[in-house]
Amino acid sequence: MTDLNGQVALITGAGAGIGCAMVAAFVAAGARVFAVDRSGEALEALRAGVATPEALDTLEADVTDPAAIAAMLAGAQARFGPVDIVCNNAGILDRMMPLDETDDAMWGRVLGVNLTAPMRLTRAALPDMLARGRGVFVNTCSIASFQGGRGGVSYTVSKHGLLGLTRAVAATYGARGIRCNAIAPGSVKTDLAAGAPPSDAGWELRKKGLATRPPQAGGDDIAPVALFLASEDARYLNGALIVADAGWTVY
Ligand SMILES: NC(=O)c1ccc[n+]([C@@H]2O[C@H](COP(=O)([O-])OP(=O)(O)OC[C@H]3O[C@@H](n4cnc5c(N)ncnc54)[C@H](O)[C@@H]3O)[C@@H](O)[C@H]2O)c1
Repeated sequence: MTDLNGQVALITGAGAGIGCAMVAAFVAAGARVFAVDRSGEALEALRAGVATPEALDTLEADVTDPAAIAAMLAGAQARFGPVDIVCNNAGILDRMMPLDETDDAMWGRVLGVNLTAPMRLTRAALPDMLARGRGVFVNTCSIASFQGGRGGVSYTVSKHGLLGLTRAVAATYGARGIRCNAIAPGSVKTDLAAGAPPSDAGWELRKKGLATRPPQAGGDDIAPVALFLASEDARYLNGALIVADAGWTVY
């Protein structure tokens, strides 16, 4: 079984969906997890459901708040010690909006959560990891990280960007003990789309994707991939993107 004993992991977007399944998998593997989400209610449910409560602490915070980035790392460090693993998982959709319907507010919101926040958290976590000569990042990308029709323009650009961040960090810091890899889930049954139904134009795009979609995954189909990437089993992976989509994108 994959072993994360003695490891400290910080997971964003941990209150629901894929992040919530990641918390359960990491705790089961022996990690101590500092879970961050903007929803206090979701974090409360997470705490109530965890098998080993002493292995979990939570922080209600918005990843787009620069002050919250420092608070996350300080909180994890104070509770469990230096952070070994950062999972940049929080993400939002863009209602599948094409460029001609996308306003600056939508663009800024989606890029802020999906790309700028992971950049800031990675940048803030790096100095301590570099000083210790080890550290792992697991970024939740998407098949929209390499395809053009799996989201609207903001989501697609944000997830392409997150893959770029993954590769740049791996290339820059790999020789100094840092591993930075990504997962590209296909379609996962979560609440991601709940507050962001496709726009009319977005539906047309979405219908094309739905035509070939395999059965949707659950968060717990994706969490083992994150667990693997976070563990020593993935010691030879850096800058990699693992596509977890039941073959959707090879059709
Ligand atoms: N569900 C899918 O089909 C799918 C496919 C590919 C990639 N992904 C990616 O997986 C990740 C997780 O998505 P999910 O499907 O589990 O979604 P979800 O909506 O079920 O869970 C996301 C969690 O992130 C939190 N969150 C959102 N914005 C935040 C912010 N600004 N600060 C702090 N927390 C915030 C939400 O409160 C929620 O608990 C996202 O990055 C998403 O883009 C999902």
